[in-house]
Amino acid sequence: MSTETTRGHSYDGIHEFDNRLPNWWLWTFYLAILFSVVYWVHFHTLGTGNLPGEAYVAEQKAAAERLAAQMASNPVTEEMLLKLAKEPAFVGEGRKIFEDMTKCALCHRANGAAAVVGGVPAIGPNLTDGHWIYGGKPMDVYTTILKGRGPDAKIGSAGGMQAWESFGQDFVLKATAFVLSIKNTNVPDGKAPEPYAKKE
Ligand code: HEC
Repeated sequence: MSTETTRGHSYDGIHEFDNRLPNWWLWTFYLAILFSVVYWVHFHTLGTGNLPGEAYVAEQKAAAERLAAQMASNPVTEEMLLKLAKEPAFVGEGRKIFEDMTKCALCHRANGAAAVVGGVPAIGPNLTDGHWIYGGKPMDVYTTILKGRGPDAKIGSAGGMQAWESFGQDFVLKATAFVLSIKNTNVPDGKAPEPYAKKE
């Protein structure tokens, strides 16, 4: 394939051959162009394909729907929550959620004891003691996390616990399992019970 034709220039006595590009190389080039046209038309002009971001969202949605369907045939009960609270892997997942400073730890501290740190009290109550505002039974805790709580004039509670339902059933179940696992562990130096909390 090489020819004796040169490009006609010379640098320090070095010449450059004027060879034709090999056919295999040209074909990868033509095919790449063809691919880009097909790709563009498929994804961007006709919109007949799911881009990776959209495909990911669709997969997540399908997974959430599968889980929701599972839950629908398997309603949340006290027994189920107690069982989940004894599954180390499940509680571990819940711990990760809880210790996230943008989630529960923001108001309850990472260990759930809501201790005063640097003179600043935690916003939320201590979840490791035996006092509960909205009840410490598994379904109470689950409902608190799912739907949020307060303020409630009847018991004089201040409110401020947000609903986490939008994070999905799985998230709420894991967080519930973790809270049940730290309940009554009475972590030292935890926050004193709120005046409107009841001993259980
Ligand atoms: C923005 C602050 C904030 C965040 C974030 C937050 N909480 Fe709370 N939480 C509160 C407050 C405040 C209360 C008490 C509400 C009241 O007194 O009416 C509370 C109450 C609770 C209770 C009920 C305690 C009782 O005595 O009945 C549970 C359980 C709880 N939170 C769990 C969680 C979990 C799990 C998360 C993370 C998924 C979380 N919280 C995130 C502020 C927060």
